[in-house]
Amino acid sequence: MKKIKLAQQHSSRLIYGCMRIAGDNSAKGRAKGKQAIQAAIEAGYNHFDHADIYGSGECESLFGELLKESPRLRDHMIITSKAGIRVANNRSPQYYDFSNRYLTQQVETSLKRLNTDYLDLFLLHRPDYLFNASDVAQTFQQLKASGKVKNFGVSNFSPSQVSLLQSALNEPLLVNQIEINIHNISSFTDGTLDQCQQLGITPIAWCPLGGVVYPAWGNTFSNHDQVRIETELAQQARRYDCQPWQLILAWLLKHPANICPIIGSTTPERIHAAKKALELNYSHDDWYRLLEARNGNAVP
Ligand SMILES: NC(=O)c1ccc[n+]([C@@H]2O[C@H](COP(=O)([O-])OP(=O)(O)OC[C@H]3O[C@@H](n4cnc5c(N)ncnc54)[C@H](OP(=O)(O)O)[C@@H]3O)[C@@H](O)[C@H]2O)c1
Repeated sequence: MKKIKLAQQHSSRLIYGCMRIAGDNSAKGRAKGKQAIQAAIEAGYNHFDHADIYGSGECESLFGELLKESPRLRDHMIITSKAGIRVANNRSPQYYDFSNRYLTQQVETSLKRLNTDYLDLFLLHRPDYLFNASDVAQTFQQLKASGKVKNFGVSNFSPSQVSLLQSALNEPLLVNQIEINIHNISSFTDGTLDQCQQLGITPIAWCPLGGVVYPAWGNTFSNHDQVRIETELAQQARRYDCQPWQLILAWLLKHPANICPIIGSTTPERIHAAKKALELNYSHDDWYRLLEARNGNAVP
């Protein structure tokens, strides 16, 4: 698997997303999740994406079971986890919380569930509108000094939120994990990917197949747009001798910001087959053809 440098480590260019690995949390669902992780390891993924809230913690616990069974795997892995979203319950609405106490508690809980002593990367899951950059910087410093976290990043942050937080830190934010797919390309134009290139931040794409393979986060194309995009994808897929969804990944990989898509499939064949996107010699003009099909008009 092709790799990309992340601080002192080398991450597989495709990251394996663990949000769905616990399935419905039945024995059958969990066994499928374990098979998916094993398939990802065999296929050469070495970077695994988690969050405290995935499967209400069950996704981290399942992954931790695997690490307990095979502790040696840990040395060759990059493990990311995220926190900051407090899920609604019958006493309170969902909200974001970057307080020192909450983030520290969530990191410690994730470590216990994952059966590991440290996270390679800890991300703030969604921007807390009430965050104080100096307070977060202090929390990061403490987490690093304690050895619980090696490096930090953010998720779903705007460029100005990244700049604000970065201005208070004495170490670089390594990643911004955002939704990027054929439906949601706001990062192409809102400065997010420009900032990533400028500051050496790696953009990580969640839901990379959203919009065509399944609805993007809460959004779909109209039937008319969908047909036009799928027609272009089918034509290109014939020329590149691949499947349409692999082309969508190649389209993201072509961007000079070095986007790393997170593959969230739990189907071993798809986890392996996603690698084909890394081998496609995807051309500049085909990239624009797909953009044109997506937009419904040519670029001016
Ligand atoms: N930071 C954030 O706010 C945030 C938000 C959402 C997700 N994430 C991260 O991003 C990762 C990926 O997100 P995701 O799981 O939504 O993305 P994804 O990989 O784009 O989609 C996975 C879903 O699409 C299906 N699928 C994948 N390839 C397919 C294909 N070729 N044909 C038909 N169906 C296909 C999968 O089904 P099968 O399992 O049956 O193959 C699965 O249901 C998550 O695991 C998580 O780590 C982060």
